[in-house]
Amino acid sequence: MSQGKRVGIVGAGNVGATVAYSLAMLGSCHEIILRDNKIDVAKGKALDMSQAASAVRSHTVVSVAEEMSDLVDCDVVVVTAGSPRLPGMSRDDLLMINAKITKEVIEGIAKYSPNAIVIMVSNPLDAMTYVALKESGFDRSRVIGMAGILDSSRMAAFIQEKLGYGGGQIRASVMGGHGDDMVPLPRYSTVAGVPLNDVLTQEEIDEIVDRTRHGGAEIVSYLKTGSAYYAPAKSTAIMVEAILKDTKQIHPCAVCLDGEYGYSDVVSGVPVMLGAKGAEKIIEVTLDEKEKAMFAQSCNSVQKLIDTLNKNKFFEGK
Ligand code: 2OP
Repeated sequence: MSQGKRVGIVGAGNVGATVAYSLAMLGSCHEIILRDNKIDVAKGKALDMSQAASAVRSHTVVSVAEEMSDLVDCDVVVVTAGSPRLPGMSRDDLLMINAKITKEVIEGIAKYSPNAIVIMVSNPLDAMTYVALKESGFDRSRVIGMAGILDSSRMAAFIQEKLGYGGGQIRASVMGGHGDDMVPLPRYSTVAGVPLNDVLTQEEIDEIVDRTRHGGAEIVSYLKTGSAYYAPAKSTAIMVEAILKDTKQIHPCAVCLDGEYGYSDVVSGVPVMLGAKGAEKIIEVTLDEKEKAMFAQSCNSVQKLIDTLNKNKFFEGK
């Protein structure tokens, strides 16, 4: 990987632009390239962000790729492009439309930034990560979906809200797909190391689990015209930083399983070690019977989406 890192962001809507802004403010990389069909909007945002970077004395420059062919030699490419999730629309409704968009985008990335690590953000997240993996032909360590950090952060925020204390000291753990049957793990969640069931009742924990599962929809119901973006973007930026800085830290991310947890050829959220080579290691957490059953249900939901793509001959010729 070259020095003077370059990050491409496909889709300069709320999530993509906020990822870019977050990275530019931190000076995480030398260059950020925005790619969006609305070229003028992307240009305006790039100028605005470059000026904000100047204000904080960050060295990061933000530019625009007018064509996919301008998105060259990126170290990391974040893909947020896709149709947005509207009120009443499930993440799964977006499947076929976003699969086609993802396919097109990934073809461009594979051609012009063939060594990039791809971070998928578009929904339905796990299925789009699977599409990106198959269409890119990249090793599974280089195609990673963002969801676990977001879902865990939501759970942590709900725990803090319920407790009224502990902010910044809460470690919440969520595995599985980024759907309504994601797998929040109270057993692996703590407040400054104190297990959750020492500070909350089972009923309170159940409420938090349920709210976490519907955390995205809760925000959609308020915003009406779009979905959450601050937490999704920050969660994505955390992944980009871990990769660029080769931190080797463990984060929950969506990856294609290859025997881990007893599953293969399906994408799900699991703890992974992020470093310069992407998802360098997958960690296998011990799950009890109930957690295993929830994880199985979540993997089955993702599998159904993959089956739908196959039934529609989406991968024909691959
Ligand atoms: C969310 O959970 C839309 O998946 C996104 O907010």
